[in-house]
Amino acid sequence: MFSRTDNALHVEDVRLTTIADAVGTPAYVYSQSAIEERYQRLARSLGDAGICYSVKANSNLAILRLMESLGAGFDIVSGGELERVLLAGGDPGRVIFSGVGKSVAEIDFAIKAGIGCFNVESVQELDRLETRARLLSRVAPVSVRVNPDVDAQTHPYISTGLKQNKFGVPEGQALEMYRRAHASDALDVRGIDCHIGSQIEEPAPYIAATDRLFRIVDTLSSEGIDLEHLNLGGGFSIRYRDESDFDLEGFSRDVAARIAARGMTLVIEPGRYLVADAGVLLTRVEYLKPAPDEGYRNFAVVDAAMNDLIRPALYQAWHRVEPVIASSAAPRRWDVVGPVCETGDFLALDRDLALEEDALLAIFGAGAYGMVLASNYNSRSRPPEVLVQGDEFHVVRRRETARDQLAAEGEESCGQEER
Ligand code: LLP
Repeated sequence: MFSRTDNALHVEDVRLTTIADAVGTPAYVYSQSAIEERYQRLARSLGDAGICYSVKANSNLAILRLMESLGAGFDIVSGGELERVLLAGGDPGRVIFSGVGKSVAEIDFAIKAGIGCFNVESVQELDRLETRARLLSRVAPVSVRVNPDVDAQTHPYISTGLKQNKFGVPEGQALEMYRRAHASDALDVRGIDCHIGSQIEEPAPYIAATDRLFRIVDTLSSEGIDLEHLNLGGGFSIRYRDESDFDLEGFSRDVAARIAARGMTLVIEPGRYLVADAGVLLTRVEYLKPAPDEGYRNFAVVDAAMNDLIRPALYQAWHRVEPVIASSAAPRRWDVVGPVCETGDFLALDRDLALEEDALLAIFGAGAYGMVLASNYNSRSRPPEVLVQGDEFHVVRRRETARDQLAAEGEESCGQEER
């Protein structure tokens, strides 16, 4: 979906320079066919699996509409995400609501919308859900999020299935919650779920989690409580650098097939796997600041910063960087940094690149957890998002302006030229 033709990087059939000229930089650019290809690959290898796209990875309405058209359900974690899914035409019956801190307002909104399932993360939440459902004279569909205490072998910030993590409940508590939910006329037991982490490269942690969940399913079944679906959350890895591609075949054979054999429906909540590789962040070099002396570093100061893409600063994440137009300048080892006043404001360190001032750069793997994590730090306006389809491109979110930022504080812009 990204290729180099005539020495220039293209997204599908559009030159990235054309997009930069039209919308400026920094800017997020997504390839529609890259998302379609990923979705179909997943759907093909997991059969009828209930794919519920994890909205948090990229919540642009155009992306949600695309997911809907491909046949995805949605995994949400807030009322704001539910609003987006409904606006994008998503079927509320195929929405799953995860998260440890669902508020009364969010629960009411989701019950009234008729969502498919609440992934309940504590006894206290089950109480609240039951109370609200009863007050609204509705029956709330539930799954209990189990914390299987499985090591997903990933970055500690994105590891979620260990005892010390805030997510889910242990087996014993899950059983108690199911018994209570089963006995309640305001709750309807639907399934069981877990989400053990993100950027998981091997099926092994999923196999271990499935075994734990099966034990609970069996105990409940012997008590006459039958669960329809088993939801393993998201977490499938992508290749940022030298990771291996997620072993879908192994997952399908050792996990999906075993769940199907029990007559249960497998549900997954992939985010990154579907959208990360479909996106680049376009940025332009403002200044080249080569090392003046021994012990100094070569800095390429670009117009994107940690407020636009926080993954390198937050998770020491590695994203591939390439000049859009290959240059004949002498290559050097550069740190690609932004204008924000923090030493942690870097997009890439120690990269051998041939760079010129004004060079346009593409930062790859930026389709997931890029724009959704962007902020206004240093009062910077957030970048636009562009969706490419064949030889066409559409601005699916315009660049934010100083006026947008000031509006919530009741002020107009003083007319400073918008970037
Ligand atoms: N389901 C639940 C309940 C989750 O918490 C998550 C991600 C997903 C599904 C989707 O996971 P995925 O398939 O995308 O790995 N900001 C971090 C990732 C945080 C993931 C949080 N939960 C990053 O940029 O790496």
